[in-house]
Amino acid sequence: MANAYPITDHSYDVLVVGAGGAGLRATMGLAAAGLKTACITKVFPTRSHTVAAQGGIGAALGNMADDSWEWHMYDTVKGSDWLGDQDAIEYMCRQAIPAVQELEHFGVPFSRTAEGKIYQRPFGGHMRNYGEAPVQRACAAADRTGHAILHTLYQQCLKYDAEFFVEFFAIDLIMDDAGACRGVVAWNLDDGSIHRFQAHAVVFATGGYGRAYFSCTSAHTCTGDGNAMVARAGLPLQDHEFIQFHPTGIYGSGCLITEGARGEGGYLTNSAGERFMERYAPTAKDLASRDVVSRSMTVEVREGRGVGPDKDHILLHLEHLGADVLLARLPGITETAKIFSGVDATREPIPVLPTVHYNMGGIPSNHFGEALRPSADDPDAIVPGLFAVGECGCASVHGANRLGTNSLLDIVVFGRAAALRCAEKIKPRQTHSPLPKDSAERALARIDRLRNAKGSLSTSQIRLAMQRTMQNNAAVFRNQDVLAEGCRKLDEVWSTLSDIRLNDRSMIWNSDLVEALELENLMICAKASLYSAEARKESRGAHAREDFDKRDDENWMKHTLAWIDDNGKVTLSYRPVHTYTLTNEAQYIKPQARVY
Ligand code: FUM
Repeated sequence: MANAYPITDHSYDVLVVGAGGAGLRATMGLAAAGLKTACITKVFPTRSHTVAAQGGIGAALGNMADDSWEWHMYDTVKGSDWLGDQDAIEYMCRQAIPAVQELEHFGVPFSRTAEGKIYQRPFGGHMRNYGEAPVQRACAAADRTGHAILHTLYQQCLKYDAEFFVEFFAIDLIMDDAGACRGVVAWNLDDGSIHRFQAHAVVFATGGYGRAYFSCTSAHTCTGDGNAMVARAGLPLQDHEFIQFHPTGIYGSGCLITEGARGEGGYLTNSAGERFMERYAPTAKDLASRDVVSRSMTVEVREGRGVGPDKDHILLHLEHLGADVLLARLPGITETAKIFSGVDATREPIPVLPTVHYNMGGIPSNHFGEALRPSADDPDAIVPGLFAVGECGCASVHGANRLGTNSLLDIVVFGRAAALRCAEKIKPRQTHSPLPKDSAERALARIDRLRNAKGSLSTSQIRLAMQRTMQNNAAVFRNQDVLAEGCRKLDEVWSTLSDIRLNDRSMIWNSDLVEALELENLMICAKASLYSAEARKESRGAHAREDFDKRDDENWMKHTLAWIDDNGKVTLSYRPVHTYTLTNEAQYIKPQARVY
């Protein structure tokens, strides 16, 4: 196979895959530490999905109201519905404050208070004094916070000696016989060449897999590439059943309307004009945690109180905030509402519906960003040489439900943590041992099989069948029949992969091949999600089962692990949640009822 696809070899101390916020923060930190660093990315760095993050990055700066990292930690544990690992949550919430200060020093153009401090707005599930009232914790650059952070981090990377390989598509990991990760095989989309990157460590920052669904806020590039490469390397995926629906996707298009809109005072109404969140979450109301708001909206629609001719959506009101506030604080979503729903948000409400937004699950990892290969003997065993940070990782700081603003936080905190850990373990320019003999064979065989596929179904036909199954069978509310049917249907869709047809056989900018590779990746992620969801007989965070409507800590306070083999067979196992903190300065937060 190698003869048919000549290979260019590269060697680095560390290879980062993905150039969103997590990948760029890792790349910057690695290069700053003097490690020979490459970052490969399938899109130009500033086109990565971080650019779409809107409302803010969470940190208890206390700029606009009394706040502390302990409350942030409490809210995050509660938001996670006690599936989060408390050592990692402590690490993230404490690091949040220096992380945001660091971003400010790097040049992120945060919005400002009258005194010149970083502007902070309230956000869902972020409360003061252990749940008494919403707190201003989301540090915002208007409603383009991700955009501001991504561009700033890219500029910082350019200050150092990191090398970027742009429009390179990672095909598969290189693992050695001892189970260590040794590099990645990638395809240069621009000239069609194949590249083998050898590294002492590979940092995956490949994002989520929102595109497994028909309607999502995720970019088309969010196809779970890192998760799938890990699964193909025989490693498990963790907690894939926990999929976040953002309450306010624009009805029809799914485009994100930031939760910051409700942070600024926006509210939801049903067909009776009622502010129904007051019934579901009397204290936090429209700023309850996302899973709670999404479920409440779904119940309103199901019970006939939706709006529109088909009574199938909800209204988000911002018009009372006034054009000045919208222009200063929410210019991006005001424009998005105009373009994607034809609504002038200064005058009329925006039609919205819960839309898939984030994957809490991913590659099991620890608070250093190191990827794990859990076993019964050692549930925290690491995979030497492999890291996973950002949405593809599962540290697990979000547990069963992520709080808004904790995603931008996660990417900078754990991107930095991975860089620090690599700098601790790897000496600049240390010698590489030879790679396994057939290190590229598996990746090349995958490319060759798909490129020459002559079946009867197009990639888009198979993808649509998968997306419809996920949309219908792994939705906001779930039950045994629907989930079991979803598993069956997804098995059928999986079996059609062998009948795929590609029309373009070239290697240069073959988007037909890119989409087929991405579809295979999405299928692996989708399988892990549906099978894990079918097995979990409780309701927790974003996993809301009508047939098991209570959280069951006795039996289910544990992380799901899903192994997917090459034939699509799913094997499940579990590992304990970390019910301890990292330092004595934090207190373990015992499970409680989760009310807002
Ligand atoms: O609503 C938002 O601005 C999204 C933020 C997030 O997912 O953290």
